[in-house]
Amino acid sequence: MKPKVVIYKKIPESVLLYIKKTCDVSYYENLSDHSNPEFLTDLKDAKGLLGTTLKINKELLEHAPLLKVVSNISVGYNNFDMEEISKRGILATNTPDVLTDTTADLIFGLILTTARRISEMDTYVKKGRWNKLIGEDYFGVDVHRKVLGIIGMGRIGTAIAKRANLGFDMDILYHNRSRNETAEELYQAKMCTLEELLSKADFVCLMIPLTSETKHLMNKKEFDMMKPSSILINGSRGETVNEAALYDALKQNKILGAGLDVYEKEPINPDDPLLNLKNVVTLPHMGSATIETRTKMAWLAAENLLKGLVNEKPPSLINEEVFKSF
Ligand code: DGY
Repeated sequence: MKPKVVIYKKIPESVLLYIKKTCDVSYYENLSDHSNPEFLTDLKDAKGLLGTTLKINKELLEHAPLLKVVSNISVGYNNFDMEEISKRGILATNTPDVLTDTTADLIFGLILTTARRISEMDTYVKKGRWNKLIGEDYFGVDVHRKVLGIIGMGRIGTAIAKRANLGFDMDILYHNRSRNETAEELYQAKMCTLEELLSKADFVCLMIPLTSETKHLMNKKEFDMMKPSSILINGSRGETVNEAALYDALKQNKILGAGLDVYEKEPINPDDPLLNLKNVVTLPHMGSATIETRTKMAWLAAENLLKGLVNEKPPSLINEEVFKSF
């Protein structure tokens, strides 16, 4: 009998067909919470789960006693309660590497868009307001040869440093748990304290995973340390920033602007006051959202799932210790 898997996110047809060859699939195109009773019933005999964003926590796992593998279609896995998952001997997987360059491209685009006010100027032209040469009210700030501070120098942080240093002659400061010798050697990145980074960087770019330690890492105190000419970029998870403190910092001109791809609540409420600020560029959590990369992520997630189901080591396993204990 084929093992049953539940997919709760739309994936390319080719990947779905591939999974169906060896699994009995229950398919939901987009679930973001646990409220669908049919889904909860489906969990009862599911051996594998595949999707993204949905919270895989104790409450959900209680409904899924036979689960062997949970496969996230994203590199971040803050939606996984890793303690609960590992305690139950379930393999957890994610999709690193395949999205690194795509996400770094987008984050660099966000830096440029925010600094040069590209989306604001696009609206200015399209709304027919361009009737004379633009004056300094519409000028942006330079990106090249400025200081980029990267908080969280993992794979994506390093790819951003590459673009910044080799392409834009930027000096790189970084704050990370451990040293990143590649970034130091290839892109002249300098490791420093959070305080030094915040006080010296022209662009502060958050690329850290969300954990209990990094929640609201950027709060009033941290915004107070930034330069009034500096710009915050968040490409990690929304909850690393206290958005109320960010709003105050922007409103009081403690910082020049912000470029956000992620929010404390997603999708952000349309009435959120942040959306009324001209010096904020807002994107809908789209770091990895290209056809090529999302397809690669789905294939990798499928491979992780199928390997886990047959007790083989998935290529992107998060909890190695669970696999070793088999
Ligand atoms: C990731 O993969 O973590 C991206 O943020 C998309 O969710």
